[in-house]
Amino acid sequence: MSRPEPDTGTDVRPITEADIPDWIRALNTGFLRTPDVSGTEIADRSSYLVPSRTLGAFDTGRCVATFRSFAQEITAVGGAPVPADAITNVTVTPTHRRRGLLTRMMAHDLTAAKDRGDVVATLIAAEYPIYGRYGFGPATWTTQWTVDVPRAGLDPRWAGPEDGGRIDLVDGADVRKLGPELYERVRGAQPGAVDRDERWWQVGTGVLRLDRSPWTEPFFAVYRSAGGEVQGLVSYQADDHWGDGKQPLNTASVNWLIAAAPDAERALWRYLCSIDWITTVKSGWRAPDDLLPFYLPDPRAARVTTQADWLWVRILDVVRALEARTYEGQGTLVLDVVDGGGHGSAGGFTGGRYRLDVSADGASCTPTTATPELTLDIADLGRLWLGDESAVRLAALGRVREERAGAALVVDALLRTSRRPWCPDVF
Ligand SMILES: CC(C)(COP(=O)(O)OP(=O)(O)OC[C@H]1O[C@@H](n2cnc3c(N)ncnc32)[C@H](O)[C@@H]1OP(=O)(O)O)[C@@H](O)C(=O)NCCC(=O)NCCS
Repeated sequence: MSRPEPDTGTDVRPITEADIPDWIRALNTGFLRTPDVSGTEIADRSSYLVPSRTLGAFDTGRCVATFRSFAQEITAVGGAPVPADAITNVTVTPTHRRRGLLTRMMAHDLTAAKDRGDVVATLIAAEYPIYGRYGFGPATWTTQWTVDVPRAGLDPRWAGPEDGGRIDLVDGADVRKLGPELYERVRGAQPGAVDRDERWWQVGTGVLRLDRSPWTEPFFAVYRSAGGEVQGLVSYQADDHWGDGKQPLNTASVNWLIAAAPDAERALWRYLCSIDWITTVKSGWRAPDDLLPFYLPDPRAARVTTQADWLWVRILDVVRALEARTYEGQGTLVLDVVDGGGHGSAGGFTGGRYRLDVSADGASCTPTTATPELTLDIADLGRLWLGDESAVRLAALGRVREERAGAALVVDALLRTSRRPWCPDVF
């Protein structure tokens, strides 16, 4: 099918305060919510969106596409916070699809991010095929498990953590007090995690209630170590479901669970699987190498129900991205990075040849004219950056090209990590 002409008659530009209600209507239309716009939503979104980083496409004065970005920090391998351009609220109204509006908004935003000095751009893709063309690669993945508790083989006499720690139920006010500091520790140790603002905790504890997601107060449980330190928090809901023969068949669904130490993680999962009446635990979005199944005597009781790409990364500055992280191995590598720019100038930011030197003193990355060992698209460097993907796999798929035999193995020895990166958040 021939490609339709780009819709150049539609004006793509940052919005003004006056555009906000119309922009929200277009956003809700694109996400198939009601086009109705409430005063509460206008007040809420006006409180945090930055008009200069909020784009709209306007056709004869009516907003028909939306796009927003905000400043974010993403944790690199090794724990350094890296400045990111976080992209969200991407929609094009169905009447205006496939005319290049997303491409125009993306080019506008990525160019501004590059000029600002952001090292990467990030997003969580609604659909897999959309963003690879703009240089994004899936850098973290997620898994959801459903635990069949009676099959797990857990001792029904469990009465609390065996390690001297304790679990207490707390309310939202406690979570707002304890959560931010705990999360700062968690994200510093979790490659792929992103920062949370105060609003995140307000939404997560129901202080801020959004029309688009009706609120039911969840349970919150905190784990404190034997020394009294807050090391884990979980938010979960339970349903009320009974089977024939007076059997409780209730499900606990985890909204989120964060832990700064393995003991905390183990204790919180054990707690969730020990609540009387609960026969099913739904894990929520977890790291793909989460330990949950292996806390159970029979790990097969934890069935994978979702396995999917999660955070996508678009590297905007190869030198700073590769220097920001640490490496488990040492060595030297010359990469030829292709950054096509084929999509309406939403590319072309990073192309060139780079030499990465990793030694006991740290990593340095410099532009070079040396013979490359591996040629790869910037989207594939995005996949590899947080250590999750294997260059050997990408070579087998024909996505990266070895210019020197065995180069993909060297990439893996340098870039891969023993634990997988994970982004606990949706944005
Ligand atoms: C995804 C969406 C924003 C795309 O907008 P759009 O203006 O139609 O995209 P463009 O016209 O700029 O398309 C650019 C290219 O991406 C492709 N593309 C866009 N959306 C795609 C999709 N969902 N699946 C596959 N390809 C897609 C187009 O075919 C085009 O390819 P080409 O350049 O090879 O011809 C729009 O379809 C939409 O709003 N979808 C529903 C909401 C949504 O999923 N938002 C994303 C949230 S992360």
